[in-house]
Amino acid sequence: MISMDWGMKNRMAQLIQADGHCLFLPVDHGYFQGPTRKLEEPRKTIEPLLPYADAIFITRGVLRSSVDPNNTKPIILRVSGGTSMVGKDLANEGITTSMEEAIRLNVTAVGLSIFVGTDYEHESLLNLSKLVDEGEKYGIPVMAVTAVGRELEKRDARFLALASRIAAELGARVVKTYWCQDFEKVVRGCPVPVVMAGGPRVDTELEVFEFVYDGMQKGAIGVNLGRNIWQNDFPVAMIKAIRVIIHQDASPKEAQELYENLKSEK
Ligand code: 5RP
Repeated sequence: MISMDWGMKNRMAQLIQADGHCLFLPVDHGYFQGPTRKLEEPRKTIEPLLPYADAIFITRGVLRSSVDPNNTKPIILRVSGGTSMVGKDLANEGITTSMEEAIRLNVTAVGLSIFVGTDYEHESLLNLSKLVDEGEKYGIPVMAVTAVGRELEKRDARFLALASRIAAELGARVVKTYWCQDFEKVVRGCPVPVVMAGGPRVDTELEVFEFVYDGMQKGAIGVNLGRNIWQNDFPVAMIKAIRVIIHQDASPKEAQELYENLKSEK
């Protein structure tokens, strides 16, 4: 990595493991969805999964209320919001948490959504730029989240490559986007590390293992994957199975076998 201060380098090293890969666990969904299924009581969801995550993506409210401060896992603080599922426009987000607060909470990184292609594209991109300016002052990396809202058709390589590249150009140190067909086009066009979100729960575990594996083969450094872990009936088995794809280069079939074995141990 080029011209980074010690603090920035150290925080990036906390996030991205020695093998160059990472498994981030997002539990931030309540910031616009309210008590999302299986995240109704965040502490109960988070505690059993924390040992297997490389970092968690979380708002300050859930961090303070539901994570023990003795925790030493890196925190990526969700600092954008101000909208809800029932409001007018999900894209109309602002920065909700100051950098001073992020420092007080001793976080490793901050994360914010950008809404390319929406009425609020301009505002959200300037929010990202401002956050990067602030973060760089203190050596705190920014993870940009390329939001697609309810428009699933936006999950194609052309759109996601555009949004990811813009996020990198504006200074994000990590970009979170969705897996899609031709995912290599997204990674190739994005000069900073890319992690994949999971999206809404899919029908089978194997589908998750397959897209995570494919994305890793095509250059993603890992995942920021929530619902397909904690909405699964066996979340610990699920996170462990995803972990072996990310950190041990396991195939989807091997991950599935591990999942089945762990599931039957319960
Ligand atoms: C929610 C987010 C999530 O962090 C992101 O969507 C990943 O979670 P999931 O795998 O459940 O999609 O940004 O706003």
